[in-house]
Amino acid sequence: MDNFIFSNHDTVELAKKYGTPLYVLSEDIIEENAETMKTAFEKCNIDYEINYAGKAFLTIAMCKIVENAGLSLDVVSGGELYTAIKAGFPMEKVCFHGSNKSIAEIEMAFDNKVGKIVADSEYELEILDRIAAKKNHKPKVMVRVSPGIEAHTHEYVQTGRIDSKFGVPLKLVDKVLSDSKKFIYLNIIGLHCHIGSQIYDEKPFLLAAETMLKLMKKIEGYGFEMKELNLGGGFGIPYLKDDSVFDVDTYVQRLVYFTKNKCDEIGLKFPKLLVEPGRFIVGTAGITLYEVGIVKEIPHTRKYISVDGGMADNPRPALYDALYHAVVANKMVFSDDEEELVTISGRCCETDTLITDVLLPKCEPGDILAVLNTGAYNYSMASNYNRLPKPAVVLLKDDKDQIIVERETYEDIILKDRLPDWYK
Ligand SMILES: Cc1ncc(COP(=O)(O)O)c(C=O)c1O
Repeated sequence: MDNFIFSNHDTVELAKKYGTPLYVLSEDIIEENAETMKTAFEKCNIDYEINYAGKAFLTIAMCKIVENAGLSLDVVSGGELYTAIKAGFPMEKVCFHGSNKSIAEIEMAFDNKVGKIVADSEYELEILDRIAAKKNHKPKVMVRVSPGIEAHTHEYVQTGRIDSKFGVPLKLVDKVLSDSKKFIYLNIIGLHCHIGSQIYDEKPFLLAAETMLKLMKKIEGYGFEMKELNLGGGFGIPYLKDDSVFDVDTYVQRLVYFTKNKCDEIGLKFPKLLVEPGRFIVGTAGITLYEVGIVKEIPHTRKYISVDGGMADNPRPALYDALYHAVVANKMVFSDDEEELVTISGRCCETDTLITDVLLPKCEPGDILAVLNTGAYNYSMASNYNRLPKPAVVLLKDDKDQIIVERETYEDIILKDRLPDWYK
């Protein structure tokens, strides 16, 4: 078979059946990724929790997959929470995050009895305390700290200056949590931090763990019982052929060993450990299928392959120079001399480059291009720029394929448009 097979499905057939652009998501791969992470923790025989970060990809079907995989769910907005509620996701397994939650969102979280809230600032703790005083539900509260460690891909830095909108700056934690009687209605049970994304190396996580554990010990001195430590997400996935894979097994083993030693050293009870992966769970489980349109060669300069999607369905290259690999789904067998270096362009009215310089077999209009590992932060970040309807999402499981998000129509595009009276 010359076609690209993804999760045991012929992607050219999927493109024919559902049209393009098309997000394709494999439940089997999501389950494998979740299993890899769960197994790593299970082996260590500790109390742990894996909160899937819904910002990477969240729909009603995804909530079911997450529940089925035995993961908890991290939501960051009323919209994500609403999706979880509508999916019937167990609210006690929901953790409500966000750097600037509205009062209405916080009340929604209380009223729906979410299990946990991560407070991002002193101001938010005060609001939570006020709201908690009026409600009979008391979620667990964790305080997000900005630990002064920032890690991205291959590097990490320890910043003396803490320049981040997220979390309570390390230097202010003492002041904020100096007295457990300050937040009498809150059940503050631990700390949270998230140090970056696409991290391949466990060192910055261990450094963050050390900072947080010492802080927890200190905070216990102020009268809080620190039972849980959430070290966030950020585990890297391979976007390009030569990218590394984050070794979860080694990470978890080292983290547990390190935490045990550190806790013994400073006299802290071993806390429940939490992680919050988004990309690691869903990134490799998704691809996007496009149809090739215009092929334009500028002599001695560049060959552009234009596809029928682009930055509206995948804004990551435009937002932060994200790199992707692609294959021509209907031309998987070819010799080296049929390959050429091309640039994949989206159809939006911006430069809209999806991939710069990728080696592909000679493309023609009508070919199906599959961009790989688009499961995270593609659909969830998609827009209607240029009034492009958002693509459908099709879910694969075993030999089954079914739509979990319908393709938007032009009617959907104008659904919320209104004419002012003076044009009627
Ligand atoms: C607080 C928090 N937790 C978890 C995540 C998930 O990160 P990733 O998808 O890289 O695992 C993010 C991503 O931005 C985040 O901000």
